Amino acid sequence: FNAKTSAIHVMAQTNPNAEPQAGTIVIGTDDTYPPDEYTNAGGQILGFDVDLGDALGQVLHKKVIWKPTAWDGIIPGLQANKYDAIISFMNVTPQREKQIQFIPYGTFGQVIVTKANSTENIKTINDLKGKKVGVQIGTTSEDALKTVGGVNIKEYNTFPDALNDLANGRINAVVVDESVGRYYMTKDPGVFKIAGKPFLSEPVGIGLRKNETKLAKQLTQALNTIEKNGTYNKIYTYWFGA
Ligand code: ARG
Repeated sequence: FNAKTSAIHVMAQTNPNAEPQAGTIVIGTDDTYPPDEYTNAGGQILGFDVDLGDALGQVLHKKVIWKPTAWDGIIPGLQANKYDAIISFMNVTPQREKQIQFIPYGTFGQVIVTKANSTENIKTINDLKGKKVGVQIGTTSEDALKTVGGVNIKEYNTFPDALNDLANGRINAVVVDESVGRYYMTKDPGVFKIAGKPFLSEPVGIGLRKNETKLAKQLTQALNTIEKNGTYNKIYTYWFGA
């Protein structure tokens, strides 16, 4: 399982100190979110979004440099010019669209994850009322739980921190993007399970500063190219299955 590296055979480059400059695209991402973006034991950054960003860079003949960034504060970091773009499986939401612009690249759901041996009858997020539920701070998973009301929400800086508390029995469930929930099912079979069905299908997008009209146009065209020539599907299937 850990042998996975890339659908497009590019050695992704990470540089936490990279600065935006001509001919490069520096991309900020919270690399604690497998299989969307993560750094493996060998220090290599990889995942669905990483292949996607690298493929877009190839089309545009720009060098892509990945800049690992904490999720909390990732939008202010873009606005402070620390990177040119965010590709971090970020959902397009009206609140975020007040701050930045998005180029959507897919529509994805969320899931509830519990311990595999949980006997609680959890089928939908409404069943999480009165339960302790972990989420990564400032995510759409947290927004979803807030709409339910009466959920004891516990915020974590990274998703693996939340999952750790679930494993240790400190919380009853976690809510997360479906791809990530499924990744851990496969990685730790018998430890966790997905409760109920995926819900809340919403677009995710590349985040850009609002004034980056040229870059937005270039990336939109490049995304179009890789959707038409099969590269997007190849990356999708490699990381998420058929
Ligand atoms: N899709 C969710 C959101 O937009 C969570 C994304 C978290 N991404 C990450 N790389 N940790 O709020």
